[in-house]
Amino acid sequence: MRKQIETLKVLEEISRGASELLDQREKIRPKLPRTFDRPDAVEYLKCDYRTIEKYAAELGINPKAYSENGIRWMLDINQIYKIRDVLPETTLLKKKTKPFKRQSDQKTQVIVVQNQKGGVGKTLSCITVATGIAVEYHEVYRVAVIDMDGQSTLSAYQPSINGDDRTTIGELIQINPETLSYKDFIRDSVSDTTIPNLKIIPATQRDRDIESIFHEGVFNGSIQSPYSRVKNVIEVISGDFDIILIDTPPSLGYASINAYNAATSVIIPLGANQNDTDATCQYLSYLPKIYKNLISQGHEGYDFVKFLLTNYEENSVSSLEIREELNEYFNGYLFSTTFKKSEAVKLCSLEKNSIYDLSKSMYSGHKTTFKNAKLNADQILIDIMLQVRNVWDKETDEYEQEKTCYSSDISKKT
Ligand SMILES: Nc1ncnc2c1ncn2[C@@H]1O[C@H](COP(=O)(O)OP(=O)(O)OP(=O)(O)O)[C@@H](O)[C@H]1O
Ligand SMILES: [Mg+2]
Repeated sequence: MRKQIETLKVLEEISRGASELLDQREKIRPKLPRTFDRPDAVEYLKCDYRTIEKYAAELGINPKAYSENGIRWMLDINQIYKIRDVLPETTLLKKKTKPFKRQSDQKTQVIVVQNQKGGVGKTLSCITVATGIAVEYHEVYRVAVIDMDGQSTLSAYQPSINGDDRTTIGELIQINPETLSYKDFIRDSVSDTTIPNLKIIPATQRDRDIESIFHEGVFNGSIQSPYSRVKNVIEVISGDFDIILIDTPPSLGYASINAYNAATSVIIPLGANQNDTDATCQYLSYLPKIYKNLISQGHEGYDFVKFLLTNYEENSVSSLEIREELNEYFNGYLFSTTFKKSEAVKLCSLEKNSIYDLSKSMYSGHKTTFKNAKLNADQILIDIMLQVRNVWDKETDEYEQEKTCYSSDISKKT
């Protein structure tokens, strides 16, 4: 009895320490918007700094506003976006890229990031890709992330920017889609992040219990169609986004199945080591069974299913062997780029940043390491966007073909 009471005391003390540590982290490291010094801004906007300063002045933005604090020149991402909007069409950036406007026949790409194996880089891949697509593409894709994992790791990368309590995915899935104000409520619940064209439906510690919320709802009849709850939410917001990424927990419960059911494509990250590969292969052997159930729920099929090798150590023979083996057996399904193990990625993630939350000037470590990590991530973005653009192109082609068939049918009749 005495030992049990002592154990309880120890656990309570540890729990208090853990909560304080989390609070402290949030206090010391509030999430700030990405900032750009002059070389960063020149590189990002692809024009000389005089042009940037000219349009900044026209907009009433002063890059030297913080010079009294020792910061000679700085723009934040909101200001950089405003300047980008007004740059003339003759500038290199505007000549090279036009804002993307998704056509009505091109569907929102909803990408689920899943593997039942824990710690394979699901969350980091998800937030890196989502942030990268939002920030690095001047097409200004409208991106959202949904955190289906009650551990809420992804949400910590984009915490509340005004300190307000945000509506979480756990709360949204409990609302009956038949409710009158359902659509308005869902739309209002999507939260801002430090990046203007990246939004989030977060999870919090309250969602740790997400599986029991589902179980309870199914048992007491308050949650009908329990595998379509996330799909229902996405249907409401899909018009506002081009790409939605869903991070999932390392399990195959209601949360992950909902994500699979809502998705149009799948990315399965796996670590470049024997344990991850073995566990992932076991998981893959029963995915067809799960998908058959989704077909019965009306799923229309995925546009792509791809594997992303993560934590890849370039100079390791075992990493290379695993990569070759996967290439042999998953031929064509493995992204050709691997997410390399990087000190820069780790250092950024210590402060809950993806590498796209920082410009080179903001990174405190070795700049070459940062540059290499970014080049690697850029290549992953290219691989993924190639898939997405292919899907959109195909949808447009199919639409055009349908239109042609339809008009030739009509002309035959007339
Ligand atoms: N490319 C990388 N370079 C360095 N560290 C990495 C890289 N990718 C992932 N990590 C580290 O690996 C750990 C696990 O990553 P992450 O949290 O993304 O995995 P996960 O699959 O989401 O885990 P869980 O199953 O618990 O949700 C983290 O500490 C992360 O910082
Ligand atoms: Mg995770």
